[in-house]
Amino acid sequence: MIDIGNVVQKLNLNEGCIEGANVKVRMLSELKECFADTDAYNVAMDAGDRVVYSVSSIEPGGEDGGLHYGLGMIMPGKIGDEYFLTRGHLHSKRSAVEIYIGLKGKGTMLLEDEDSGESRTVEFKENTVVYVPGYTAHRTYNIGNEPVLYLGIYAADAGHDYEAVREKNFNCVVTETGAGPEMKKRSDYLK
Ligand SMILES: [Fe+2]
Repeated sequence: MIDIGNVVQKLNLNEGCIEGANVKVRMLSELKECFADTDAYNVAMDAGDRVVYSVSSIEPGGEDGGLHYGLGMIMPGKIGDEYFLTRGHLHSKRSAVEIYIGLKGKGTMLLEDEDSGESRTVEFKENTVVYVPGYTAHRTYNIGNEPVLYLGIYAADAGHDYEAVREKNFNCVVTETGAGPEMKKRSDYLK
């Protein structure tokens, strides 16, 4: 018998969550290694810890072919010129792809090919769909002034490999410039 409670879920775009789902909240204090500008990070932390993003997830598991999904909410803000971001990850199953559907706000996904290290950004907003290929590290930035909301849908066996990204971080950062958001090499950002 189908459990209808697992079939229909309600997205609460005002609260930035899936009602009744598990929510993981990431505080600024947990993201030190993600941001490029350590001095700016320390100044921000001196002013007080705060929520950077949250993800509420529906992960029923299941056999091959199963799907999981999560609603992400990234708050607006910057550390130095670098926008607030998610930790970012590769999938443990490297071939697993993911679909992101923009729901609110202005976001940018930073995509980096694991083998070549090649980077690119893709901007998204409400009603935009981003196809994240396999073998690609992905991190999401909020490049606007309001919370960014998106729905991520991924294979139940994709898994999240945060360690591979933590070891070398992303090659590029997304920063605010007078002309708008710009992707630049991490090594060039603070020169
Ligand atoms: Fe993912």
